[in-house]
Amino acid sequence: MIQYGGDYNPEQWPLATRIEDVELMQQAGVTLVSVGIFSWAQLEPREGEFDFGWLDDILDRLAAAGIKVTLATATASPPPWLTRKHPEFLPVLADGTVLHPGGRQAYRVSSAAYREYVLRMTRTMAERYGTHPALALWHVDNELGCHVPHDFSDDAAAAFRRWLADRYGTVEALNAAWGTAFWSQRYDSFDEVLPPRSAPTYPNPTQQLDFARFSSDELLVHYRAMRDVLREITPDIPTTTNLMLSTGTKRMDYFSWADDLDVIANDHYTRAHDPEAHVELAFSADLTRGVAGGDPWMLMEHSTSAVNWQPRNRTKRPGEMLRHSLAHVARGADAVMFFQWRQSAAGAEKFHSAMLPHGGTDTDVWRNTVTLGSALKALSEVEGSRVRAQAAIVFDYPAWWGTELDSHPSAAVTYPDRVLAHYRALWQRNITVDIVRPSADLSGYALVVVPTLYLVTDADAANIAKAAADGASVLVTYFSGIADENDHIRLGGYPGAFRELLGVRSEEFWALQDGETLTLDDGTRADVWSEQTHLSPGTEAVRTYADGDLAGWPALTRRPVGSGAAWYLATRLDADGLQGVTDALIAEAGLSPELDGVEAVRRVADDGRSWLFVLNHTGDEVTVPASGHELLRDEAVAGGSLVVAPGGVAVVREG
Ligand code: GLA
Repeated sequence: MIQYGGDYNPEQWPLATRIEDVELMQQAGVTLVSVGIFSWAQLEPREGEFDFGWLDDILDRLAAAGIKVTLATATASPPPWLTRKHPEFLPVLADGTVLHPGGRQAYRVSSAAYREYVLRMTRTMAERYGTHPALALWHVDNELGCHVPHDFSDDAAAAFRRWLADRYGTVEALNAAWGTAFWSQRYDSFDEVLPPRSAPTYPNPTQQLDFARFSSDELLVHYRAMRDVLREITPDIPTTTNLMLSTGTKRMDYFSWADDLDVIANDHYTRAHDPEAHVELAFSADLTRGVAGGDPWMLMEHSTSAVNWQPRNRTKRPGEMLRHSLAHVARGADAVMFFQWRQSAAGAEKFHSAMLPHGGTDTDVWRNTVTLGSALKALSEVEGSRVRAQAAIVFDYPAWWGTELDSHPSAAVTYPDRVLAHYRALWQRNITVDIVRPSADLSGYALVVVPTLYLVTDADAANIAKAAADGASVLVTYFSGIADENDHIRLGGYPGAFRELLGVRSEEFWALQDGETLTLDDGTRADVWSEQTHLSPGTEAVRTYADGDLAGWPALTRRPVGSGAAWYLATRLDADGLQGVTDALIAEAGLSPELDGVEAVRRVADDGRSWLFVLNHTGDEVTVPASGHELLRDEAVAGGSLVVAPGGVAVVREG
């Protein structure tokens, strides 16, 4: 069964509405709802005084209706009495600004005293509801780090010092790693160290990088503390928290969180301004699968229509909600859930769409909710199957943090948009891609793309080199391999860690000004970046610059390595240029594009059964070759060809 549902906030509604909620959930085919996420202030209105009546009642009603619950620890936002009593629990920005209550998530995870309150609430929830028949999964807090990924408070400073002492052992080792001989930054003891608070000019880059690592770890420590309480009381109930895997959330190193979650759950929202939002969606879904190690995962939140937090929010077009939902399923989701079940009448999210909108049941949104419920029922057999990919894109949070640090050669060298550009070029050809961390086992991939991996460990660089030696086509792009994990430059020429693999040595970067472009010898265009690159014997210049200061110098190179090849792209190509390079790599790697004109992804079961998801993001009807049984319409694919309506989706059990 593919689980179906959303966040459910019954505390916002009177009993009669909650009774109607359960009936309508049954009509829509809802199987799972997330309850209690923001209900601490309702459940504990005064310190130590609890009011569980309303939650008992709704959980009983849900259980009676056969609807399971992802029950929250209720800790996502502390109640007003708590931060009034303990204003020292409030988080602090780099410039000393205190973030006050009145919104949500006004807490600092490094405060031991705050955590005591959180663990007490977590324990209370687990003890009260641990055996409730509706309980299927624990939902720890909510989107940890969403609003306060970095806290610069004194509590955070103390925790940062402990984290550094643990990482480096001695202050000498910290000084060496942070390069503190520069600008009189030498520390004589850990007690002198601070978070990178607002400073007269650039704070130490390694301090910034370590603070990013620490902050991600500290949020994870907070998650673990709650998870451990839940495990102690309900060892058989799995635990998760909702991650924010997309090109938009940079602050948590989610690959390092994965082992602590029993199931990976993601929240994903499309970008209103992006005409190709479905490509970013596909990337985020593949990234989620990557974090899940290939296992099926949960789409914990997305939206039925517009959200409320972008500058201009976009209503979903007919068919889009179903298509986007199934795009996640195609890429490994075994649950499709929304924020939220019933659209709020008050509060900051009243203009955020929901499964049941302000307009009630005589609305397209509601009809879409019901249609999706039946569609997911029809796809039940897909549950547990996996997506297989022959291409990988290497993705790394510390490299993202490192790339976008200040005081660099060009502020226009960015990370997620470049990863997405490479992803898009593969997506265009329906090459299914795994998004993996640099240390992943790359042995199964014929093609490995390594966009702008600015900092990289020796071991990870060796892992990538091994992929080429073992037969993969490996593409590395500009501003990769520049620094080690401490953000120290790898000396001897760029791209440091990949110089040998690629057979290139760049002596100087030639960053381009805004609007400045270059032409390559095949007529394709580039901007942002170029390099003065020397080639080793055996490395071929596939493309050179045709104009500009570096006319005649290599822009794209290739070196045969073992049974594979290592390519270096030293500039930022436009979309056409990148497509050309990607097509050459696809051909060299022997990958065959799936179908043309549609998005196509296959899920495969252990027993060999397979399902082809075909998503038509265009306004035209598309006919593609397929054979088998189409599950949404429940009919055989006639004559070996499948017609997919404009904006439509089809799922074919093959064979
Ligand atoms: C996040 C949160 C939800 C809600 C949605 C709105 O994903 O987890 O509580 O605020 O955003 O899009």
